[in-house]
Amino acid sequence: MKFFVDTADTEEIRELSDTGLLDGVTTNPSLVAKSGRDFFEVIKEICSLTEGPVSAEVAATDYETMLEEGKRLAGLAENVAVKVPLTMAGLKTCSQLSKAGTQVNVTLCFSAAQAILAAKAGAAFISPFVGRLDDIGQTGMDLIGDIVQIYENYPSMETEVLVASIRNPTHIVDAALMGADVCTIPPSVLKQLVSHPLTDKGLSAFLADWEKTGQKILD
Ligand code: E4P
Repeated sequence: MKFFVDTADTEEIRELSDTGLLDGVTTNPSLVAKSGRDFFEVIKEICSLTEGPVSAEVAATDYETMLEEGKRLAGLAENVAVKVPLTMAGLKTCSQLSKAGTQVNVTLCFSAAQAILAAKAGAAFISPFVGRLDDIGQTGMDLIGDIVQIYENYPSMETEVLVASIRNPTHIVDAALMGADVCTIPPSVLKQLVSHPLTDKGLSAFLADWEKTGQKILD
């Protein structure tokens, strides 16, 4: 399973990419607004911090403008994945950009029917938002199970399932059990993944016992 980080904060990306755990980055207009930085500058900087795909989202809603925006974003760096919303114009843009060899991430997916359309449009990634489905009383992870199953039924659908709107480590473990290809994870949740109280307790006990030996590993 690949790990993308869901942020436009380059300091956080730099810190996480040093761990070797990162396979790519996703951004969205809200995350770019939060960064307070110039969109093009921030995307170019992120692209230099990872070799993996960096999702940069279009802002237009009509096909013609969306396509032009997508081409401009794709020209920023080789690893840009153009992000388009799951609308008819977005699917049409996805189809055109994908045929031209650009990776497209179709975002704001909330149903299996939408995921089928994205695969047919040649999307490199489909982004189902699990947390936002949980927020309205549905079980977001059920959608991931359905999409993984559907794509498995049709090997010609090569779109990767990119689990988005992740709120906690359980979403990630469930996604892995279901065979999702990618999780895009907020930095805070990525840090939560490593923590376990028994790890902390065990480490303290080992260190205390090691101290008693009076030995050193390095001179
Ligand atoms: C995915 O690419 C989106 O940027 C993101 O996961 C949305 O998450 P949110 O529902 O926490 O805003």
